[in-house]
Amino acid sequence: MDDVPNHIAIIMDGNGRWAEKRGLLRLQGHRAGVNSVRRVIEACIDFRINYLTIYTFSIENWNRPSTEVSGLMKLFAMMIEKEIFELKEHKVRVRFLGRLESLPEELQKKVYWLQEQTKNFSDLNLTIAINYSGRGELVDVVNKAVREGKLVDEDSLRELLYIPDLPDPDLLIRTSGELRISNFLLYEIAYTELYFTDTLWPDFGRGDLIKAIKAYQRRVRRFGTLI
Ligand code: IPE
Ligand code: IPE
Ligand code: MG
Repeated sequence: MDDVPNHIAIIMDGNGRWAEKRGLLRLQGHRAGVNSVRRVIEACIDFRINYLTIYTFSIENWNRPSTEVSGLMKLFAMMIEKEIFELKEHKVRVRFLGRLESLPEELQKKVYWLQEQTKNFSDLNLTIAINYSGRGELVDVVNKAVREGKLVDEDSLRELLYIPDLPDPDLLIRTSGELRISNFLLYEIAYTELYFTDTLWPDFGRGDLIKAIKAYQRRVRRFGTLI
């Protein structure tokens, strides 16, 4: 495909509703959602997308029932173990975005290990937002600047973000019909093209990604100028 976005970000929503519709447990929905992650990563590699950023757990998600939260933490740790071989095989660089220091210790170790193991790859830059909050990221930026006694401009602020070299997303996809940002990448999406679909995340596949990219290709991006 020509003219693909350099960076696609996805709010992967609707796992719980997918499960409830089938009389399953919400956690089974999250497990089904993992297959969509795999499909989308493969498609991004095939379409030569440079950056893919996925929202897996927000800081607000800690307020869910503890069984769901602990199930999700276990699922994340298991996925890292299970997918590392395939990710390395495809030369995917994986980085995690968020307050990693507050993740359960076992998961933290796996997170740093996966980052280390894939740090020299660049065929696809996969960023996994976990324990992430857009406002939290900006608060952390402000505190860093204050500690360093710095005033910031837009460029130097960027240097204080969790991953300074992550380019702004060109396309942000949200599944499950919700029309909101839910505290994702607030600073980074200033000029991102937004795409919403009713498809629930576990049903999302290559065809849905192609539809989103095609919609993006029809957009006229003006960045405040006249074209
Ligand atoms: C998204 O699916 C995954 C996470 C937030 C962890 P949800 O769990 O939010 O699914 P719905 O929105 O309740 O259907
Ligand atoms: C956003 O989905 C967070 C993730 C997809 C990880 P939520 O389901 O938490 O968002 P709200 O509650 O519908 O805004
Ligand atoms: Mg949701």
